[in-house]
Amino acid sequence: MSTTSRREFLAQAASVTVVARALTHSATAADVPPVLSQPQPGPLVVSTWPFGKPSNEQALKILKEGGSPLDAVEQGIRLTESDLGNPSVGLGGIPNSEGIVQLDACIMSGPGHRAGSVAAVTGFQHPISIARRVMETTRHVMLVGEGAMRFASEHGFEKGPEVTEGQREAWKKWKAEQPKPTTGGARPPAPNHDTLALILLAPDGNIYGGCSTSGWGYKLPGRVGDSPIIGGGLYVDNEVGAAGATGIGENVMRFCGTFLFVELMRQGRHPQEACIEAIQRIAKLDPKGFDLSINFIALDKQGRYGAAGTGSGFQYAVASNTYSRVEQSPGLTAAPIGPVGGNQGK
Ligand code: GLY
Repeated sequence: MSTTSRREFLAQAASVTVVARALTHSATAADVPPVLSQPQPGPLVVSTWPFGKPSNEQALKILKEGGSPLDAVEQGIRLTESDLGNPSVGLGGIPNSEGIVQLDACIMSGPGHRAGSVAAVTGFQHPISIARRVMETTRHVMLVGEGAMRFASEHGFEKGPEVTEGQREAWKKWKAEQPKPTTGGARPPAPNHDTLALILLAPDGNIYGGCSTSGWGYKLPGRVGDSPIIGGGLYVDNEVGAAGATGIGENVMRFCGTFLFVELMRQGRHPQEACIEAIQRIAKLDPKGFDLSINFIALDKQGRYGAAGTGSGFQYAVASNTYSRVEQSPGLTAAPIGPVGGNQGK
């Protein structure tokens, strides 16, 4: 073995040890990858959930056809937003407690450290495209509610239905089962949604990402989760890497979740180590411990990637020019740390 490859091997072995130690000290892993992913050149696309797989493939197709990395992120996410059978992303999503689907999205470009975001948008099929338009045509980062929708209309985005027929029927049933509200309206039920976060290392080494969701099903009108929050549901740092989140937004945004992941990678952690360590840190701070329903993906500038989630973990999708697959993340569980209290994200 040459000196260089021996050094690489030892570094790799040390990294694996760190992951194993972190898991045995305060968490258990449902399915720990045997080795940390190796560096690889872009294009590399990582996204949340198995429904991210076609989005990854669409992103790669756009790149292959000569599209820009931002086109790839946008078009990849648009594919999932177009799926009216997806209850978590786009207009097929579960509506809010008043029966209206309320969408959040953001996009980031590593070069220029640019970002665009929209929240609480109704009746528009592609919030990711509106977020991109905010980034590219305004001096702002985030537009919400009425202002975001007026902006979208002025920029030619077409209005669609505010909820699908199927989701409307399900909502009516849910509504009928709710106790009559006294004050503050109906309380949303336990969260039951996912999110598409997609992060991309381009062939030239630049990093991009986007995130789109219909958010917490039957949420209070006006509720905004982590997905459109830069550093919450998505963060891209072109010198280091990127991270994306899915799960209960309230349990991500209180910790600047994805920003934390990227900062750990900046300190030298492999993305897989960063995912585990950051969740452990969040669980230590949060009265609910690991009972948080949060999941993260991360990739770094070298083309290494990782993911982790609380509970049994989650499935995420990875694709390059030579493969496209769904992987299982480690799942972190442990007894709650510290006093139990508060109601955020329950
Ligand atoms: N993670 C998406 C949301 O909580 O809205």
